Amino acid sequence: MKEIIIDKEHSVKKLGNLFGLFFEDINHAADGGLYAEMIQNRSFEFSSVDRAEYTPLTAWSKSENLLWEVRDSEPLNSANSHYLYVKAEEGSFIENEGFNTGLYLVAFKKYLISFYAKGEGTVSLSVPGAVSEVDITIDSLEWKKYSLEVMSKHLTTEGRLRITFKTCGEYCFDMISMFPAESYMGIFRKDIADALKEMKPKFMRFPGGCLTHAGSLDINARDSMYRWIKTIGPVEERPSWRNNWGYNQSLGLGFYEYFLFCEFLECEPLPVVPAGFNPHSGEGAPLEEIDAWVEETLALIEFANGDKNTKMGGIRADMGHEEPFNLKYIGIGNEEIGEGFFERYPFFHKAIREKYPDIKIINTAGPFATGEGHRAGWNSAIKWGSDMVDEHYYSSPEWYLANMHHYDDYDDNGPHVFLGEYASWSNTFFSALVEAAYMTHLEKAPAVELACYAPMLCNKDYVNWTPDMLWYDNRDILKTANYYVQSIFMNYQGEEELAVTTHNLDGVIKLSDSDRLWGECSITGNDVEGRIYDIKLTKADGTVIDHEDFKISTDNLKNTVYTDINESEYTWEFSFKREKGRKGLKIAFGKNPEEETYILWEFGGWDNWDCNISSFVRGRASTISHRIFHVTDEEYRLKIEVKGRSIKTYVNGTLMNDTVDRLPEMEELYLSASKDSEDNIYIKAVNLQNEEVTVNISIPGARLKKAVGEVFTGELTAENTFDDMGTVVPQHFGRIASDDGFEYTFKPRSVTAMRLMQHK
Ligand code: AHR
Repeated sequence: MKEIIIDKEHSVKKLGNLFGLFFEDINHAADGGLYAEMIQNRSFEFSSVDRAEYTPLTAWSKSENLLWEVRDSEPLNSANSHYLYVKAEEGSFIENEGFNTGLYLVAFKKYLISFYAKGEGTVSLSVPGAVSEVDITIDSLEWKKYSLEVMSKHLTTEGRLRITFKTCGEYCFDMISMFPAESYMGIFRKDIADALKEMKPKFMRFPGGCLTHAGSLDINARDSMYRWIKTIGPVEERPSWRNNWGYNQSLGLGFYEYFLFCEFLECEPLPVVPAGFNPHSGEGAPLEEIDAWVEETLALIEFANGDKNTKMGGIRADMGHEEPFNLKYIGIGNEEIGEGFFERYPFFHKAIREKYPDIKIINTAGPFATGEGHRAGWNSAIKWGSDMVDEHYYSSPEWYLANMHHYDDYDDNGPHVFLGEYASWSNTFFSALVEAAYMTHLEKAPAVELACYAPMLCNKDYVNWTPDMLWYDNRDILKTANYYVQSIFMNYQGEEELAVTTHNLDGVIKLSDSDRLWGECSITGNDVEGRIYDIKLTKADGTVIDHEDFKISTDNLKNTVYTDINESEYTWEFSFKREKGRKGLKIAFGKNPEEETYILWEFGGWDNWDCNISSFVRGRASTISHRIFHVTDEEYRLKIEVKGRSIKTYVNGTLMNDTVDRLPEMEELYLSASKDSEDNIYIKAVNLQNEEVTVNISIPGARLKKAVGEVFTGELTAENTFDDMGTVVPQHFGRIASDDGFEYTFKPRSVTAMRLMQHK
């Protein structure tokens, strides 16, 4: 009989705030997402700096009998410098189209409209087809705020907010805003906020991601990095900026609101600040100016935690929150791995440690699970005594299956792991199942302290990145299988991990026995033109296969060099000289059409910063080796050595990458057990097999009363969609459980979580 024995008296790890959320303003996560503002470009600040096709009138339209222009001569304030001037005839109008298909209004629900205006006359506000006209008299030649509440009579997803001029004349408008009255705190969209609160996250990382560090170093530049200090105060006095994901961010959701939202979710806030270094451009703030960046970070901690009599605590109190937010964590940087970051990090670290010794400081280890940047991040963290290191990776489900024990050897005595971004490349049930299996290992690994899936939110009409946890449009919200898995692990987390022993459950099932990387070899130019020459492939028996020289001419032109190399050992080498362009080559080998797999060596990848090896399965990449490298116009001799599934690359005779493409395998049952302070015991189990797994669960000394839980099963390819949101949804169950154990059958392809309650 298969058996699981849970030692309820033997705690092996404190789980603390293990499972949480990561909010990045990507995919219109804030405006057109969690921020419930229905008006797009409410303050006429959109600009082509934010997105090439934007103008200050984006999302606005007008009737023909009206003249308009966006002006900046007499602004509402200097941060909000543009406003709309109109010369209106009686009956003329302006309209805003909102996000997605338009404004979403529900019959008999209330909406709050407000705007700033100058002028004299009567205007009426309406949403044609949903809200009838409501007249307002504009009676000031100075900026004045007007507010009203309206009720919708009908449902629409295509509403337009219309301002109709009842009196001809000249008017100015700014900050034209509309929120559903049921938004939480007048800020947060209810359905998205509810879905997140139901998860019971323990923390929320914000506001990014690349959003934090991609941009100009100039705090006043429109394309500045994310500078939290510019995001607080009255919303109408905040700038409306470029978001590095190619749109505008109104900053209505600023750091004060993020803290409020964490309070609403009852989770710990985990803000991330830039360290004065932009890894995309390689630009860094001069070290003699780094103090200003450090001071801004200290000011953030004071804003969150300072008493109302401190300068920043006073600003928080004036905004409406006298009590401190009790910030415990701060992240310095996001994925920066160049020297430029590591020389700046200590300035932040030392100043925070000295002034706020209780704050946990989080260093960063780049965008890959392994490699040079990852090592550099850890070395920096160990050197300076960071509390945690923020790791990020997006990989194929097969990578997760091959690397379930990734954290087993991490040292619990050094800095801990904050897995700040991870996902398996899709929203299918298979990906979610594999993530669940991985989470049982995250829970057990002694060094893993915090973990959150990424990205969290995506508006379906403004996609920057997939997969994402929650999708939505102006009306609906779509919970993915990945969402349900995250939610299950948060709801059934527990406080202390328990020791578990198993009998007859330790089997590991191999999912592939391919002992070699065989198949096509090809070279693609990555934003370059150049020459490939002196090409030869040497087999293990010494046979050499030459290939004629060729030119790499345009991106995406694949040059197949060898078609069918079915060897378990070979060396492939060639010379490369770049003649034009900024990057390098994409060198693919071992391309196996049957298994849809191949290995890619990116020589000068990303922004010509990387020299990576990635393993592709069905088009999904997992980076298995990373080096920092910039390709120049010099001549290179490149060599790849393949032995079985081991890969070594050399550049001009120097070893560059050295890695193994591990094969996926499946454990018989992935399992974790924990308990909380009320003596409830939690079991989470993931069965990846196509068959049931029946086990005897025993908990010596337990006096079980009942079990409640969730079972999540489905077809591996199943995916929730806007047309069918219920394809894969967990089912709740409750059952009697008595004494100290019971037999349980874990369904095929399932995640099961249960809370076992005991007699007092
Ligand atoms: O989550 C999407 C992006 O992936 C984040 O902005 C960045 O940190 C990572 O590379």
